[in-house]
Amino acid sequence: MQDCTIETVTDTVIAQMATTPDARLREIMDSLVRHLHAFAREVRLTPEEWLRGIAFLTAVGQTCTPHRQEFILLSDVLGLSRLVNLMHDAEGREEVATETSLLGPFFRENAPVLPLGSSIARTPSQAEIVLYGTVRDSEGRPIAGATLDVWQTDEHGLYDLQRQSPEEMDLRGRFVTDAEGRYHLRTVKPLGYSIPMDGPVGDLIRAQKRHGFRPAHIHMMVGATGYRELVTALYFADDPHIDSDTVFGVSAALLVRERHDDANAPLPGLPSVRFDIVLSRARDQAAGRVGADPARVTGAGRVGADPQTITAMR
Ligand code: BEZ
Ligand code: FE
Repeated sequence: MQDCTIETVTDTVIAQMATTPDARLREIMDSLVRHLHAFAREVRLTPEEWLRGIAFLTAVGQTCTPHRQEFILLSDVLGLSRLVNLMHDAEGREEVATETSLLGPFFRENAPVLPLGSSIARTPSQAEIVLYGTVRDSEGRPIAGATLDVWQTDEHGLYDLQRQSPEEMDLRGRFVTDAEGRYHLRTVKPLGYSIPMDGPVGDLIRAQKRHGFRPAHIHMMVGATGYRELVTALYFADDPHIDSDTVFGVSAALLVRERHDDANAPLPGLPSVRFDIVLSRARDQAAGRVGADPARVTGAGRVGADPQTITAMR
């Protein structure tokens, strides 16, 4: 007889789950139940609050589409994505390598491969900037043939996925470093922008009186054979929200400033931003990526699904 009391229910649940053959699933579920019950006891969760929480999570799920991942956004605003990122880095990132940042919900696979020097902005409505730098290993050797995926908001603070026709790609592209590990491209200076506020996560942010902004940034994902994939972003130091990113992605090492006097910039006459990258050697098969193209996550969540499904999300 499982005669549960407030004191014994947690152990009773954990005892029943002890049949789980997958040791990692058992460890994760045991810990989850223990922490979830401790949380409910600590805040003395009422039936109304419990139901409200369930309605909130239901709305989060219902807001997800192949173009939008509201659960990743929730994880981001709770700092969970950043924590997983930091723990993942502690395992595989070399000390001198470029710091990582959040992949965010707007990464898309198969951005167009563009020649060095191309613009990723299809219809820039303001003067362009040149973004340039090198990709090197931790000993300073240039890495030729590294692939850089670059994506960002436009000068109004919108990603292509947030526009009328989300299937059309804009402000993203892939570039390959030259024989000396160099890259350069043209783009517009992105605008800091509000995370998507028209869903349940936006309701939460408003209820907490948080501003909901991310400082202006450009995302990069850099890969080369034999090196750990790097997911990072550069952040414009002059943005008013640089010290209060809603999703905790900024770090001092990733700050950049636009310059008008850089004699080394590859396209004279354009303001420039330099961002040099150092990759870690790959220690194992684990990718550096924490996150995925939203289209990959949709439909991949059944417990017991082929583990390849999750691996393929990377
Ligand atoms: C972004 O960088 O675009 C982003 C990251 C996390 C949440 C929302 C947006
Ligand atoms: Fe972003």
